[in-house]
Amino acid sequence: MPAKVRDIEREMKELRAEIRRHEELYYVHDNPEISDEEYDRLLARLQQLEEENPELIAPDSPTQRVGGRPAESFPEYIHRRPMLSLDNSYNIEDLRAFDERCRKLADGRPFEYVAELKIDGLSISLHYEQGLLTRGVTRGDGRRGEEVTQNARTIRSVPLRLNPAFDQWREVEVRGEVFLSRSVFEKINAEREEEGTPRFANPRNAAAGTIRQLDPKIVAARRLDMFAYDVLGGDRKPFATHWQSLEWLERAGFRVNTNRALCASIDEVIEFCNQMEMKRDELGYEIDGVVVKVNSTALQDEFGATTKAPRWAIAYKYPARQATTRVESIVVQVGRTGALTPVANLQPVLLAGTTVARATLHNEDEIKRLGVRLGDWVLIEKSGEIIPKVIKVIESRRTGEEKAFRFPKKCPVCGGIVSRPEGEVVARCIAADCPAQLKARLLHFASRRAMRIEGLGYALVEQLVEKKMVRDVGDLYTLRLEEVAALERMAEKSASNLLGQIEDSKQREFPQLIYALGIRHVGDRTAGIIARHFRSLDRLSEASVEELDEIPEIGLTVAESVRDWFDDPGNLALCERLRAAGVKTEIETGGAEGYDEEFAGKQFVLTGRLETMTRDEARALIEARGGRVTSSVSKKTDYVLAGEEAGSKLEKAQSLGLKIIDEAAFKEMIG
Ligand code: IVH
Repeated sequence: MPAKVRDIEREMKELRAEIRRHEELYYVHDNPEISDEEYDRLLARLQQLEEENPELIAPDSPTQRVGGRPAESFPEYIHRRPMLSLDNSYNIEDLRAFDERCRKLADGRPFEYVAELKIDGLSISLHYEQGLLTRGVTRGDGRRGEEVTQNARTIRSVPLRLNPAFDQWREVEVRGEVFLSRSVFEKINAEREEEGTPRFANPRNAAAGTIRQLDPKIVAARRLDMFAYDVLGGDRKPFATHWQSLEWLERAGFRVNTNRALCASIDEVIEFCNQMEMKRDELGYEIDGVVVKVNSTALQDEFGATTKAPRWAIAYKYPARQATTRVESIVVQVGRTGALTPVANLQPVLLAGTTVARATLHNEDEIKRLGVRLGDWVLIEKSGEIIPKVIKVIESRRTGEEKAFRFPKKCPVCGGIVSRPEGEVVARCIAADCPAQLKARLLHFASRRAMRIEGLGYALVEQLVEKKMVRDVGDLYTLRLEEVAALERMAEKSASNLLGQIEDSKQREFPQLIYALGIRHVGDRTAGIIARHFRSLDRLSEASVEELDEIPEIGLTVAESVRDWFDDPGNLALCERLRAAGVKTEIETGGAEGYDEEFAGKQFVLTGRLETMTRDEARALIEARGGRVTSSVSKKTDYVLAGEEAGSKLEKAQSLGLKIIDEAAFKEMIG
């Protein structure tokens, strides 16, 4: 072989290893060392060399993920060892009964459990021979699946070659769950909407549809991902414990979910289940529960399996988040900025542990997009947000009796003019005296992140507005005891409690007041930024659009909205009355810059339960001092405030060696 060819061969080999290392850092460990451009440059160089020297293309080259022509169909493949299903449990008693059964089978021998997330995707089996990925097979019916090798190769977290040091057997089978992250799922659906193809109902359906796609190019574009959860050598388990299997998988180059726990007792398992349920919305992907497995593989073999599921494992299922039900009617609500929001009244269904009778339809365009009619059967979903949303209409259940819905041309509450400026999706009632808007403004003003007046709920606001006792939020501070006590379902004591709370609300920090004013586009974080920048209502009310726009993190939309709000003489008068009432209209704390050195520009993560304040309050305190609160722990985090029962965030903080403070230390910091 000429020296030049040898050099090229060496360069290609080095490039492959280098690119794979960066893929692993990026896709498996979420911890890239180079920029996307640098990665693309490496890949382009390899592609160029491969084009010039096609005989030197290796099967595990990172360029070979997206290859080949569309398949005609997928060949059937009989699993060497069936891919079993899991028994389900839906409550703690079921878990304890599982523990009882296991302990009986173990007959006095001590053992541990591994608890890991149940990823809501579809399972896949990957075969490696001499370290090379040779076959990818879907679960199918558990006995026979379909060979989707080309598609499996497109998954960036699936190594095409096992890390050599850990390629210890001739044949290895790795099993795991293929899934789509929520963000990719949203992107795919947005694209489908543009094209006019029906949306996928959830990430699992989208992933299942994708892995069985005949054209690998489409599969590659869809960015599937995989968490590995099992390894078989030949047809048996090569390690003494499941935990060791997971560790091997990580070293071999797979993505293994880090949310897992080695548990000495079922109580620890239950704790893990509860912790993860709270964390469910923060994960970037869907889970439907926790899988609990006996750790010792010897015991696993001994316990065996039924035809359907192993006796050494169980799935603890969280309440489902999607359900189908009927739309009984659609009403249009009016919010504090006059926004008209259509809401579907539903036949009540049980969903994620609560009975759901309403779902938001967002706006007129959304109703058109969904094509929803009165009487339709719909799929609804409840995830992070409190109000469930309608995902799609189940057209196959239409009877022809369904009726189209007409969006109102006038405010359904006050009959005022509705305006929908061009290019905007939201229609608004523009009447200044619309009682629905006032009620919503009062509720917002009293809400937790704003002035936190807990006793001021919907029923009371309704009466205060209907009886014209309150015409704007400023009137709250001039309410008299006798008039409040005279309201329905109120008495001297409850009225005096309410007035006490209203009095207390004067102590809220200035950023909370700015948020409470309910200026359009000004959420609590933005309110904090603006408040800290101007430090007083006077200065803020005089700020120009340019001045506002110059603040980092504040855009033109917010700047204009703030200026518009203060240009309204009614709003200025309101500010005067709030000041006269004794509400805090400036920042008093801190040093020269108005905020504490210790907090300014610092990133905080809050985790666990606090004893003397809510997390929202802690957050307000941090933000009022110039700090920021983020939801996930990273190297950039400055402080982790850990309360009771702090979970994996605390563990991560410890492993990163971050500064961890408890509630007492935090209170000391805020003085
Ligand atoms: S273990 C015999 N672990 O759940 C062991 N399965 O309901 C069965 N799944 O078909 C698999 N995450 O598709 C296991 N961490 C995990 C899992 C998991 C999701 C899926 C898998 C399986 C189904 C059973």
